[in-house]
Amino acid sequence: MRMTNLAETLGDCPFRRDVIAGLSAAPKTVPAKYFYDAEGSRLFEEICGLPEYYPTRTEIALLGRVAPEIARHIRPASALVEFGSGASVKTRLVLDAAPQLGAYVPIDISESALSQAAQSIAADYPNLRVSPIAGDFTRPMALPEAIRARPIVGFFPGSTIGNFTPDEAAGLLARAHSLLGDGASFLVGADLVKPIDTLLAAYDDAQGVTAAFNKNLLVRINRELDGDFDLDAFDHRAVWNAQESRIEMHLVSRRAQQVSIGGDVFEFAAGETIHTENSYKFTRELFAGIAERGGWRVEAEWVSDAQPFATFLLRAA
Ligand code: AVJ
Repeated sequence: MRMTNLAETLGDCPFRRDVIAGLSAAPKTVPAKYFYDAEGSRLFEEICGLPEYYPTRTEIALLGRVAPEIARHIRPASALVEFGSGASVKTRLVLDAAPQLGAYVPIDISESALSQAAQSIAADYPNLRVSPIAGDFTRPMALPEAIRARPIVGFFPGSTIGNFTPDEAAGLLARAHSLLGDGASFLVGADLVKPIDTLLAAYDDAQGVTAAFNKNLLVRINRELDGDFDLDAFDHRAVWNAQESRIEMHLVSRRAQQVSIGGDVFEFAAGETIHTENSYKFTRELFAGIAERGGWRVEAEWVSDAQPFATFLLRAA
């Protein structure tokens, strides 16, 4: 059965609108945030456990090591506001090291992931006030009234910031600044530049889980937008774009073909790609520059000893 929701019934479906616009553009694109339906979120969790995918375990090890230092920057009764909460494993490292936190506000586009994470945190941290927000943090939103009196600490781990171009990232950080307020601090995880073979393996693993994650976008379009993508007619491809300092994921059309999405028809040439994701790899200078453009300054930073990955503590400037 086809999924529907109120917005879609009313004719305003952001997913449809963004897919139609992205596939009408040259080169073709689809925003990476649409990877995360229930199956996409599950596949991403599977990616996080792959031997080639170093970012998750690297950041978890880093946070485990430096959380006591991070905690010294967190004031009593603060609210931790997390952007894209996922399974909240990293959150627990911060919550455990900073028992002075009084509230937790996870924001996530995936309602299933959000309610699971919120429930398990609420169960394990009975003194924490948990107020989940289901929504797209790239769009304007407001903090719950009950939270606004508290000191605010934003938390944006996972190098999700790397999914945005520098201009988009600066804009996102600026909106986060207005959401979190002038007194806020902001903990942001960012993957750093490293050897190309390490990067390519992380985004094109031997078991093909990342390929399945990428192709699940087509499965989702077929199901939710009445598409007829032939999954065997597209290949997963990861490339390093040195000029832009980013890994790109694409879906490559194996042959010339037409695809229909809810009656709209799109032409693909053989070898033509849909650009599905950017994953920027930062230097500290690149990251600090973007943060400054978003209205933040770097107050502290910690870098992992294994694969280079950074946690930045930003302060509203
Ligand atoms: C969740 C955006 C950080 O870019 O590394 C993993 C998503 N894409 N494998 C990343 C992803 C392919 C991931 N982020």
